[in-house]
Amino acid sequence: MRDHDFSARERRARGRRRFDDDEPHFLKYGPASGPAPADPDDEPDPDTGAVWSSWDDAVHGPEPHPAWLVTELAAKDTELGVLKTGKEADVHLVRRAVPDTDRSCLLAAKRYRDPQHRLFHRDAGYLEGRRVRRSREMRAMAGRTAFGRQMIAGQWAAAEFAALARLWEIGERYGTVAVPYPVQLRGTELMLEFLGDPDEGRAAPRLAELRPAPAELRELWGQLVEALVVLARAGYAHGDLSPYNLLVHAGRLVLIDLPQVVDVVANPQGREFLARDVQVVATWFAARGLPPSLVDPTALIEALSREAGLR
Ligand SMILES: Nc1ncnc2c1ncn2[C@@H]1O[C@H](COP(=O)(O)OP(=O)(O)OP(=O)(O)O)[C@@H](O)[C@H]1O
Ligand SMILES: [Mg+2]
Repeated sequence: MRDHDFSARERRARGRRRFDDDEPHFLKYGPASGPAPADPDDEPDPDTGAVWSSWDDAVHGPEPHPAWLVTELAAKDTELGVLKTGKEADVHLVRRAVPDTDRSCLLAAKRYRDPQHRLFHRDAGYLEGRRVRRSREMRAMAGRTAFGRQMIAGQWAAAEFAALARLWEIGERYGTVAVPYPVQLRGTELMLEFLGDPDEGRAAPRLAELRPAPAELRELWGQLVEALVVLARAGYAHGDLSPYNLLVHAGRLVLIDLPQVVDVVANPQGREFLARDVQVVATWFAARGLPPSLVDPTALIEALSREAGLR
């Protein structure tokens, strides 16, 4: 370990943890904001706004970590702006770099809003299906105290992180389902591999924004079917699949926005979720001109149900 790594670790050792009970690891950390730093070294750089990388405080994505990912403790994070404000979360662009070196990467930071500030609510059904061990948290969530609202936002972030980690590993093994690499989870924020143009800092287009030529349309549909087959084989449906939750990056169709991923066997409405996902995307591809001989939602729903072991 280099000297500056060590001093960075020392600096962090002063206890940023807010809870010291037996909660799961990912719930122990508060949101990205917190009390003012006591050490002037922890203040944002006055010129760039850079702060110490939050990597050391976070739950990390699956190993091996990709080579492009900056994991050095001496790294700093710089906010570059908002990529997109969504219904449930805002996605920001962050550069993580080791000062005075060429080690640098871009990350997409998805920050869940607490339920009061969201435009879309799925919490009731979601909470019914989840086990929360401590009754204090249960009461806080049910009573929607500020702490409870924070917990709910944190659970969404954790659910999406877990789904991405699982799908990333499946994708690595079979190579047919693409998701952004889930870099880290910390409270209500998850950080993902940035998909887009690194020079412009612009996110990859969503499928909905594209008007692909016939050959590309066929190719993208083929990739989508492959991804859905792999997902179904693992027992999952996306649960909110649409041309808005698919990015096209370097010719690859990438699934995003996965907090509500559905276990199609355990969920009594698993088949309906799976069918809805297929209908939505098949409708888009058909409207863009993919011939009916290629896009047959009924046959695809049947095939995916079989893959998932639903019949
Ligand atoms: N890894 C990523 N790289 C680049 N851009 C991303 C990434 N993840 C998300 N985005 C951008 O942020 C947008 C919103 O992300 P996402 O769909 O996950 O959140 P959301 O809150 O559900 O938003 P929406 O309500 O728009 O669906 C995406 O459409 C995309 O433009
Ligand atoms: Mg979305």
